Amino acid sequence: MVKNISIIGTGYVGLVTGACFAKLGYKVICVDIDKKKVDIINQGISPIYEEKLNSFLKKYKSNIFATNNYEMAVKKSDVTFICVGTPSNNDGSINLKYVKESTKKIGEILKKIDGWHLVVVKSTVIPSSTRDIVLPILEKYSGKKAGDDFGLAMNPEFLREGSAVNDFLNPDRIVIGSYDKKSSKLLEDIYSVFSCPKFITSLSAAEMIKYTSNCFLATKISFINEIGNFCKKLNIDTYEVADGMGLDTRIGRAFLDSGIGWGGSCFPKDVDALNSWAKENKVDSLILDSITEVNDKQPLILVDILKKHMPSLKNKTIGVLGLSFKSDTDDIRDSRTIPVVKKLLKEGAKVKAYDPKANDNFKEIFPDAIYCENAEDALNCDAVLITTIWDEFKKLDFSGKIVIDGRRLENAKNAKIYEGVCW
Ligand SMILES: NC(=O)c1ccc[n+]([C@@H]2O[C@H](COP(=O)([O-])OP(=O)(O)OC[C@H]3O[C@@H](n4cnc5c(N)ncnc54)[C@H](O)[C@@H]3O)[C@@H](O)[C@H]2O)c1
Repeated sequence: MVKNISIIGTGYVGLVTGACFAKLGYKVICVDIDKKKVDIINQGISPIYEEKLNSFLKKYKSNIFATNNYEMAVKKSDVTFICVGTPSNNDGSINLKYVKESTKKIGEILKKIDGWHLVVVKSTVIPSSTRDIVLPILEKYSGKKAGDDFGLAMNPEFLREGSAVNDFLNPDRIVIGSYDKKSSKLLEDIYSVFSCPKFITSLSAAEMIKYTSNCFLATKISFINEIGNFCKKLNIDTYEVADGMGLDTRIGRAFLDSGIGWGGSCFPKDVDALNSWAKENKVDSLILDSITEVNDKQPLILVDILKKHMPSLKNKTIGVLGLSFKSDTDDIRDSRTIPVVKKLLKEGAKVKAYDPKANDNFKEIFPDAIYCENAEDALNCDAVLITTIWDEFKKLDFSGKIVIDGRRLENAKNAKIYEGVCW
């Protein structure tokens, strides 16, 4: 029975995974190279905003702590989950630098360990990376044999930022790609508390399931955005179309809200990584090319619509509501608000931005925008753009305002002038 778990990388995935395992009764050691993060976590505070994470870190503090000492963490645990970031290179391909660095360190420690240890890749990595990159590094630096002396598995994570803790604790399915039977059995055992299907597969299929899921969801959004653009021209309500279409159980209603597109730390980089792999390997990726093109254009339509009502944006003050890539997170990575604000500033507008959690992160990219203390402040402007919906925006009074809506905020419809990106 596994009791001790180490987690490498304490970002959105690593820290949520660690905190949830701590809640389930495991003894968890989180490792990060960022000393500041380690210190904050050990004070029972989450360095990122994610619902329930702070309370879990406090409530289960006897079960979880953070360190930058790899050796202690790996030696004191039976299983090590690799949860480091896998960002994009400039050309869109996956950057496995952090995975390679952490794997090398784990390998060096495995060399000093007598017993069997399980290494699990949870980071999203391009298919075949665990088998062709992680495994050889582990064997090289440990001097040991995968499958015999240590176990290896690939266990992709499907949590969504904004509801990450709930998602981790209520999974639809758990995918376990494994090199050897012992590894999959052990992971099945760790996850036995969850009643969802456990899908056991090869290492590479597990990696591909993660990419396919994200690329499919991004495709669904880009598809409905294109349909939304048609519907606007035809004066048809795209949400009504989505409701009618979504009743088909083969289709489903989720991810069919037309808007200004998909962003975040996963969809854009995962679509780019798979697309880049396809190009490098000379396999057509026509769908991935198109969904990216739709997604690049969609947010800029918001500014085009604004310019219909306000042909010159020079010295106009534009309120921008919602900076994070979705509500309930402070994560702004590839937020669709970024191209919108870039375009507004290029046109000479003054931007008055507001987000309940992401002002500080956004300020790092756009230091020249004006950041408001509250949403009402941002409404004191010439026109308002809605780019991400937070619950608190649902109580705002937009009467007398010009509002261009990228996300369908119902109460904004009482504005003096109201137009949506696809409606
Ligand atoms: N964020 C999500 O919603 C989400 C969901 C599913 C899967 N994923 C995948 O999970 C992985 C992690 O994503 P994230 O959003 O948590 O990343 P993140 O950038 O929030 O966190 C990564 C952490 O790893 C640390 N790190 C980097 N190199 C390290 C090393 N050598 N040793 C120890 N720590 C190191 C960083 O300091 C950082 O704290 C990525 O592959 C991502 O694609 C993310």
